[in-house]
Amino acid sequence: MIFLEHAQQTITKILQKFPAQQRFSLAILQEIQKEYNYISAEHLKAAADYLSLPLSQLFSMATFYKALSLDKKGKFIIRVCDGTACHIRGSQNILGEIERALGIREGETTEDGLFSIEIVNCVGSCAMAPVVICDEDYFGNVAPGGGEQIVETYRKKEAE
Ligand code: FES
Repeated sequence: MIFLEHAQQTITKILQKFPAQQRFSLAILQEIQKEYNYISAEHLKAAADYLSLPLSQLFSMATFYKALSLDKKGKFIIRVCDGTACHIRGSQNILGEIERALGIREGETTEDGLFSIEIVNCVGSCAMAPVVICDEDYFGNVAPGGGEQIVETYRKKEAE
């Protein structure tokens, strides 16, 4: 019950940072995304109620912008670049290692909510291919076995 009250206070605080006007829709959704790493159905509804807008309007916005997600994401999002340079240099093998280490596939989130895996296109660091990004850290020239090491690094980080 205490947790629910805290969650309610947090979303209320986010909403009240902005005037209840349509032009702040995107800013509100971005703020919710930043706080929770995704936008839940309840939070989308809370934002629609606050702004007196149809839920469908905010839903369209949340699906249109790539930076917004309606799916729950992990605390750590491991992004494997699969652009041409990275693909040629073995990104699929790295992806396979990460998927096996976490027991999930690309696009999924681990049950403990710690990790998600995403495939991205060229991130502009082709000279370091293959590239993996996690928590804003870039890993370049990832060798075989490197995918597992990256997972281990963040598991340790979380345990500290
Ligand atoms: S293709 Fe991966 S960084 Fe360019």
